[in-house]
Amino acid sequence: MTDLVAVDFTATDLDRIAAAEGRVAVLITPDGKLDQGARRVNRLTKGALARFVESKPFEKLSEGAAQVLAYPTGLAAEAVIVVKLSRRPDTETARKAGAALARNMGEGALLALAGNTQRCADIAYGLMLTAYDFTDHKTGEAAEKTRGAVTVMASKPEEVAEAAETLRAVAEGVFFTRDLVNAPANVLTTTEFAARVADMEKLGLIVEVLEEKELEELGMRALLAVGQGSESPSRVAVMEWRGGGDEAPLALVGKGVVFDTGGISIKPSAGMEEMTMDMGGAGVVSGVMRAVARRKARANVVGLIGLVENMPDGRAQRPGDVVVSMKGDTIEVINTDAEGRLVLADVLWYAQERFKPSGVIDLATLTGAIIVGLGNENTGVFSNDDAFCVAFLKAAAAESEGAWRMPMGPAYDKLIKSRIADIKNSAGRPAGSITAAQFLGRFVKDDMPWIHLDIAGTALVKEDTALAPKGATGWGVRALDRLIRDRYES
Ligand code: BES
Ligand code: MN
Ligand code: ZN
Repeated sequence: MTDLVAVDFTATDLDRIAAAEGRVAVLITPDGKLDQGARRVNRLTKGALARFVESKPFEKLSEGAAQVLAYPTGLAAEAVIVVKLSRRPDTETARKAGAALARNMGEGALLALAGNTQRCADIAYGLMLTAYDFTDHKTGEAAEKTRGAVTVMASKPEEVAEAAETLRAVAEGVFFTRDLVNAPANVLTTTEFAARVADMEKLGLIVEVLEEKELEELGMRALLAVGQGSESPSRVAVMEWRGGGDEAPLALVGKGVVFDTGGISIKPSAGMEEMTMDMGGAGVVSGVMRAVARRKARANVVGLIGLVENMPDGRAQRPGDVVVSMKGDTIEVINTDAEGRLVLADVLWYAQERFKPSGVIDLATLTGAIIVGLGNENTGVFSNDDAFCVAFLKAAAAESEGAWRMPMGPAYDKLIKSRIADIKNSAGRPAGSITAAQFLGRFVKDDMPWIHLDIAGTALVKEDTALAPKGATGWGVRALDRLIRDRYES
């Protein structure tokens, strides 16, 4: 797994500044008043810091943003990073400041003088999340890109270190997800995915990997039909975290299509390489399970992921085929490219039958239509339970992860009626994300609180975002971890 940057917290010692190697960071409040640490840096650099703080560029700097002053006199460090930040920043701005440090820290060590700034753990969290470099498949210099250790001098280092430890556990979950989503499909096969998940047993998770014979016996014909054209065998991985006594668990269900060619309804070649991310839902579920295990959450959470590859082949399913789901409902496969819902139908049903959860949340890179509707800024949120849904939206907002509720309703069901089977898997263009959600809703039991998250637009992005470089974002790990903390652990 991609390593997180090391972060240590220690009491302020001004005498260490002059000789510190790498870079030194100072936090300056918007009013430009220098605290103790900044005054020392200013004195050592013969007033360079004050000159910058009194300049127009400092005035124009937004809160949480940084400016690098390179090769200062009077310091061993190669640069001073100046971050504009008030003493009591809100969570989002504190994390933004951390992100600015990550983007400007270079390859050596970083000494950050936080003084008595509040939310130091969130500054570190923003730094950890943003300092992510996926170099698994680089060679040469790029492969050796390193980041030095970070030391934060703060007024209550023990307190801050404890808060940062919990956040570090979640950041590790985010990195786990990003590594999975960024991985190419010839590396991250169904069996490799299952192996990475099984490896989390050493964190105290109970992991079980169901093989095709067992899936057959369970009647998961809809899921198996998607994978039958692939050389990689289909799998369902079940991860359990039991930290909450005998309470019914929260169930997380993820779409894990390691590559989606579309199958016989093959996709156009332009952009098809992006479909290595079609296991994004399963990636987020796995990342959340890692986070709850790493921070020893006092809650019961189960994660179930359907791992398949959607390939065209002599054995692949055809458009027009009818498959029988584990639930027993028959599905007419109009379009083999609407495969995610076939996978989820069976895993959703199995999750409910086996675990009798108190609620179910599924995540999937399910529809291109959600990108048409919401772009890359918001995940589409669908739910049959207002209170559950509002709790999730609150958690997502607290983590600044974009989430927007979409409508559902029985009126849409007529679009997925089949002439020859109980239901069909594709309804065409109108309301494409909603008809996909309606399809899934058919495999959710009456009165089961359920949320469906369509992350097709948010799992992977082409530009840097607030706390992630371009590529896999890990969207949802933070929101779901927060939901678990706020709703299941209090
Ligand atoms: N994996 C795709 C959805 C997707 C598209 C994810 C773009 C990420 C980026 C999904 O399996 C799919 O192909 N959906 C079809 C459904 C249609 C055939 C009803 C789509 O969105 O076109
Ligand atoms: Mn598809
Ligand atoms: Zn897909």
